Amino acid sequence: MRMQLATWPEVESYLARSRAVILPIGSTEQHGPTGLIGTDALCAEAVAWQVGERLSTLVAPTLAVGMAQHHMRFPGSMTLRPSTLLAVVRDCLLSLVRHGFARVLVINGHGGNSATLQAAFAETQMELDALAPRPELRTRLLNWWELPEVDRLSAELFGEAIGSHATPPEVALTWALHPERADPRPLEPRRAPSSPFFGADDFRRRFPDGRIGSDPSVASPETGRRILAAAVDEIAQAAERFFSAE
Ligand code: NI
Repeated sequence: MRMQLATWPEVESYLARSRAVILPIGSTEQHGPTGLIGTDALCAEAVAWQVGERLSTLVAPTLAVGMAQHHMRFPGSMTLRPSTLLAVVRDCLLSLVRHGFARVLVINGHGGNSATLQAAFAETQMELDALAPRPELRTRLLNWWELPEVDRLSAELFGEAIGSHATPPEVALTWALHPERADPRPLEPRRAPSSPFFGADDFRRRFPDGRIGSDPSVASPETGRRILAAAVDEIAQAAERFFSAE
């Protein structure tokens, strides 16, 4: 159930039976020459929407712009500075708490958001600590591609081609959602280079086409459907445990 497609009386009656909500967050950044700019947000929200349907849990609007500073030498990328992202997430959490939501599962599609998300959770808890009575809030962060079963299936389907940016699992998932955008042409070099990098200029110099260590040409809509199904299964189980925990 998507919050954006609900009315306020529907959210009010939902809150009478559940205090759980899912918040998808992604990024708006280049994903190599064949991957979509919206990949991280598209993946996070696709997983979130299906988990929300399965568990009859509300899904808040996707935060589609994240912390993507190191992608800014590629057109189309957009970034929030970490302090802005922290403030956006804190204000969104406080908005949800104000209505009585007390369990917020954040489904994240971009590794570069993780540290700031954890900082935003801590900042929000400190702000709530100053209130009396103290509103209840539990948060949980899940990076959809890092779960054991998704990881295992990714390794089985793509092996050495995964790499660490513009990876076949995330690219395949977006192609499952938008098969008309699937572009599995071979890239040169087949597997992108991989190394540490230091900021946006250095990123573009080391990884001229935007990929890191990956070969997204092995992705397909079909493998994307399998990855999506695995992610939804695994996150739905984790979400159920989180939402019903003592
Ligand atoms: Ni990504």
